Order: sequence, then C-alpha cells, then structure tokens
Amino acid sequence: MRITLVDHPLIQHKLAHIRDKNTGSKDFRELMSEVSLLMAYEAMRDLELEEKEVETPVARARVRVLSGKKLALVAILRAGLVMVDGILKLVPAARVGHIGLYRDPETLSPVQYYAKLPSDIAERRVFLLDPMLATGGSASHALALLKEKGATGIKLMSIIAAPEGLERIARDHPETEVVVAAVDERLNDHGYIVPGLGDAGDRIYGTK
Ligand code: PRP
Ligand code: URA
Repeated sequence: MRITLVDHPLIQHKLAHIRDKNTGSKDFRELMSEVSLLMAYEAMRDLELEEKEVETPVARARVRVLSGKKLALVAILRAGLVMVDGILKLVPAARVGHIGLYRDPETLSPVQYYAKLPSDIAERRVFLLDPMLATGGSASHALALLKEKGATGIKLMSIIAAPEGLERIARDHPETEVVVAAVDERLNDHGYIVPGLGDAGDRIYGTK
C-alpha cells in the first residue's frame, strides 16, 4: 500500500485550528473543506494529460489538458460530505457518489444504511473521501463495495489517520493508495484517534 503524506505548511496550519476543541462548526467546516482541496491538489498529481493547440492573442501554443478516465468522488457519510465541495472546486465535472455508514458504538464495525454511486463507476478514477481513518473498518467496507462495483485504482483520502487504520487498509486492500494530512499516535479505548480532532460528524453538524 502506498501512503502519501501531504504535510504542506498551509495544511498543517489549518489542521492546528481544526484540532482545537474551541473551533466552532462554521470554521471547522470551512477549514476541513480547504484542507481537502489542498490535499486533492497533491492526490491528483498523476492525472493524465494530452496535448492540444490553442491560439493565444499572440501565437499558436501547444498546451496540455486533462485526458484519460473521468473522475468520481465518493463520500462516506456523514463526515466525508465536508470534503466534497472543496474538491469539486478543482474538478467540477467529477461525479459524486455516497456511501452511508455509521460505526456500531459497541463493536466499532461499520453498518451500511445507504449507497448511491455513479452508474459508470467502473470506468472512472475514484477518490474515496472520509476525513477520519480510525480502525479502518468504514473505509475498508467502502473499498470492498467499490471494488464489487468494478472500480479499480481507488485513492482513499483521509485528513487524519491512525496507524491501526492504515494497517487495516494495507491488510484488506493492499493495492489502495492512501493520501493523508497527518498520521496520529493511536486509538483510544472508544476507537477515537488520539490526539485527533474528536468526532468529525458531530463537529461538522453540531450534533453532540
Ligand atoms: C466516523 C468517521 C468515519 C469513521 C471512521 O463516522 O466519519 O466514517 O467514523 O472510523 P473507523 O475507521 O473506525 O471506521 P461515524 O461512524 O462517527 O459516523 P458519522 O460520520 O455519520 O458521524
Ligand atoms: N470517527 C471520528 O469522527 N473521530 C475519530 O477519532 C474516530 C472515528
């Protein structure tokens, strides 16, 4: 499994505010969206290009434009939703799929309650979005679902990962590339990332 750590100073600065428990929902959402956009810039570095010509006001120019597979963003609900809008600013033509999962509070295993994916998901480059990779159960379930639908070459984008989550993805889906902004210390007894940022869904939507 390939891990790309995107630790640009702008991302680290925004992450400091995101982690702070005194940051309210409005700022939290905006910062999460901004970090997602900055991470996508790096995650999409290997998109294919093709040459074409345009006429500038001065002369003809050889330029390069995106080619190859079209893109799909797949958000794991709820928290993955906060990553979608920022990334769509970069790639507005991407299709968006949703997979609804929550963690059973006792077992920490993911429970699926919804899935709606682009019908041509197998022909697209897929970016799976979930800001928190904790036990890795949710992301692993979503990756299995996407692979069942024929998706290949999926990149998982998570803002904060725990070592346990990375190990789980390496074991279950070793072909996956994971793009993260931080790898934290560990999980606590309740399956929360330490130091992490708390419960992402609750902080985004103010539901605690
Ligand atoms: C959170 C988070 C991830 C998941 C990560 O979702 O958004 O989807 O936990 O944990 P895991 O790696 O151990 O599976 P949660 O279950 O709290 O649901 P929510 O986003 O709807 O609040
Ligand atoms: N889900 C979250 O939102 N936060 C964690 O730390 C772990 C799982």
